[in-house]
Amino acid sequence: MEKRFDRFILVTGGCGFIGSHLIKHLVRKYPNYQIINYDALTYAGNIENLDGVHDRENYVFVNGDIRDTHRLETVFKNFMITDVIHMAAESHVDRSIVYPTVFVETNVMGTINLLNMAKEFWKDDYSNHIFLNMGTDEIFGALDNEDEPFNELTPLNPHSPYSTSKAAAVMFARTYYEAFGVPVINLACGNAIGPNQFPEKLVPLAIDRLINGGKIPIYGQGEQKRDWTNVYDIAEAIDLLIHKGKPGELYCIGGDAQVENRVIIHDIIIELAKQMANGDAKEQEKLEQKFFDKIEFIRDPRGKSHDFRYDINHDKITARLGWTPKHTYEDSIRETVRWYLHNQPWVSNVKNGSYKEWIGSYYK
Ligand code: TYD
Repeated sequence: MEKRFDRFILVTGGCGFIGSHLIKHLVRKYPNYQIINYDALTYAGNIENLDGVHDRENYVFVNGDIRDTHRLETVFKNFMITDVIHMAAESHVDRSIVYPTVFVETNVMGTINLLNMAKEFWKDDYSNHIFLNMGTDEIFGALDNEDEPFNELTPLNPHSPYSTSKAAAVMFARTYYEAFGVPVINLACGNAIGPNQFPEKLVPLAIDRLINGGKIPIYGQGEQKRDWTNVYDIAEAIDLLIHKGKPGELYCIGGDAQVENRVIIHDIIIELAKQMANGDAKEQEKLEQKFFDKIEFIRDPRGKSHDFRYDINHDKITARLGWTPKHTYEDSIRETVRWYLHNQPWVSNVKNGSYKEWIGSYYK
């Protein structure tokens, strides 16, 4: 049989926020690669995120869970998978505090299941394959104001069930490289910002509350800091890593955009009021006032597991592979606010029954 594609890339979690942007990027840029999107369609996955690529010849969707080893085996066999980009994860810190076990099952066991498949199916020659394990800077723990940003040498020190499960996944991935030679690349990324993010995370939650009503719950005094990386820059970094990254290595990426929570909320308010007022200065001022009144400082539901500051040093990938974030923080705020403003049907579709249940029980 003629081999129609050069690579058969399994992307797990391709219906999620970052995964869907990555798939759209790869499918359009590489007609010579077949992209197999393996997604369990949990609450955070949405098939509509792939609009525009469903009909492409080099794109296939498989509904499956990474906890299901039989299904994974079938997919590896049937599609002759050559590479894995592992994005599927439970990723919301607040949920991990309420339901820790599912984070172990999906983020740890699911990752091991995939590593086992790669180990078995590629064992004749690992050199022609790549297993990219998507990760987060939260594995490094928290920084104080005076600390240097995280880099690849920072010891792992996670604090929440989410970040601990992701740290375990990184360790297992590295171990599979060291013990068996599975060609794993680990990636640690700062907080992502962009279109299609499920409105339980800070940025889309705030924009949704501003547009559709409700308070913006800022935990504590909102003094925590996050480094915001544009989702399109993340897709570029992964593209680069699957082509030029070195197996066995960890790479850190970030947006050079470290901002306090209360400041990003402020910036979102100013930008949304501006876009909605459409040049009417009085209306803009009125909207700003209305929006600022929506801020509510609440008792921190994360307690001690709430990391104070994340900041990431991406010098390694910049020096070795030439990646830098192309979107500024201001671009990200403007584009993200605009996307949510003009894609309200998407927002109302994803706010289904289980979303309402979660939000209703967590922000009592
Ligand atoms: P989040 O978007 O959940 O990402 P992460 O916890 O992975 O960094 O939260 C970003 C920051 O915003 C974090 O410090 C917690 C805070 N936060 C709030 O203040 N209010 C909220 O409603 C949410 C969801 C987060």
